[in-house]
Amino acid sequence: MQEMVSVILAAGKGTRMKSSLPKVLHAVAGEPMLRHVLAAAREAGASRTLVVVGFGGEAVQSAIGAGSEYVVQTEQLGTGHALMQAQPALAGFAGTVLLLCGDTPLLRGETLKNFFAAHRGSGAAATVLTAVPSDATGYGRILRDAGGRVTGIVEQKDATAEQLAIGEINTGIYCFEAAPLFAALSALTCNNAQGEYYLTDVLAILAQSGQVVGAVVAPDFQEMLGINSRVQLAEAETILRRRKLVELMDSGVTVMDPASTFVDAGVSIGPDTILYPFSWIEGTTTIGRNCRIGPNSRIADSRIGDEVTLHFSYAHECKIADGVTVGPYVHLRPAADLAAGVKVGNFVEIKNSLIGQGSKVPHLSYIGDTDIGAAVNIGSGTITVNYDGKKKHRTVIGDRAFVGCNTNLVAPVNVGEDSYIAAGSTITKDVPPGSLGVGRARQLNIAGWTDKKNSMGG
Ligand code: UD1
Ligand code: CA
Repeated sequence: MQEMVSVILAAGKGTRMKSSLPKVLHAVAGEPMLRHVLAAAREAGASRTLVVVGFGGEAVQSAIGAGSEYVVQTEQLGTGHALMQAQPALAGFAGTVLLLCGDTPLLRGETLKNFFAAHRGSGAAATVLTAVPSDATGYGRILRDAGGRVTGIVEQKDATAEQLAIGEINTGIYCFEAAPLFAALSALTCNNAQGEYYLTDVLAILAQSGQVVGAVVAPDFQEMLGINSRVQLAEAETILRRRKLVELMDSGVTVMDPASTFVDAGVSIGPDTILYPFSWIEGTTTIGRNCRIGPNSRIADSRIGDEVTLHFSYAHECKIADGVTVGPYVHLRPAADLAAGVKVGNFVEIKNSLIGQGSKVPHLSYIGDTDIGAAVNIGSGTITVNYDGKKKHRTVIGDRAFVGCNTNLVAPVNVGEDSYIAAGSTITKDVPPGSLGVGRARQLNIAGWTDKKNSMGG
């Protein structure tokens, strides 16, 4: 099959964003908009993706990474000039170039796939994706001859009154056969209202030299929306999030209140899981089946098994196995790893710790840098004292240990299997398996103390 590569124009500054961040790095549904475009290009079958960068090019490269190739356009002399910069990287390439812009995060891979298939099937040298929006202002207009064949594109600023009345616009997405494209690019000039090398002129050059130029009308104009401002960014956010929720609902997830539920594009959730209102699920999070998430919960970059309940809590970069209950008011920090059947609740913070199967940390605890075995009970108010002001130290608690309320475990320290710790203890030495550790002052009762105090005129 003929090879297809995608070139994505992303050198513009995006002045109207009023940002120090390059426009294409602004996030929509948790991902930079350029990443959405790259995903669509790959879904359409692109074997390579070349991004033309300019303003903030290094930031773009480091955010998007090595999966794409980058070419630099040092001066923004127009869309045609931008594509010329990719020409050396495509030397010898004889397939199709799918040209996209980096600021259209709503574009679907499926749409591009169909567009590419239509181009290939037609045998055209170039095909432009067009649309008929309710307001064509600002877009290039598609020119056709009496027979309906595309003869070129005229930019808004160069158009006659008659041309401005044309309703069919250029979405800025094209398929080009590489050989005629590069021949035509070398013939571009900048004799136009903006003094730029217009990529759009390639179509007229090809048509005039007798080659076939096709057009496909996009089924859904909304997908083609380019983001130029923060207001449009928010609109795209709403659309993409809604699309993600519809996808989840169609796959068997209950979303009780879509308006207050925010799920990033990269999240996956199993069937029969219920998302209660005000749930934020972000990044690379995966959630299994039959879970109850929320209300009022935020989960980022975490792996969650089946049958998990998590409410009024925040979990990030952590692992939660099947059947775990979390919340209310729990903070699970990076590398918290909860085995099956664990219960954590009521004002507990856990970081960089393993909590073994079926263990409970139900109330008011801080557990940091700790390995807890299976079937352990951690009493209310237990604190692992993991930090001496310079270094972090580990606490290890064996299977079936019972840690009494309000215990301080001064790390490094080991609490053996089947051992008990008396409530209120400060444990600074290892507790051997099967023993009772008591680390508190003995209680003293002073008989008659109250009467004595009163007789002294208190
Ligand atoms: C372009 C099209 C117009 C079309 C519209 C669709 C041209 C001449 N016009 O107009 O027909 O209706 O897109 O949105 O192509 N870019 C670079 N380097 C440059 C100039 C632009 O990388 O030197 C990038 C921009 O970052 C942007 C894309 O190319 O992602 C489009 O550029 P823009 O200036 O927005 O083109 P429009 O004037 O909107
Ligand atoms: Ca534009």
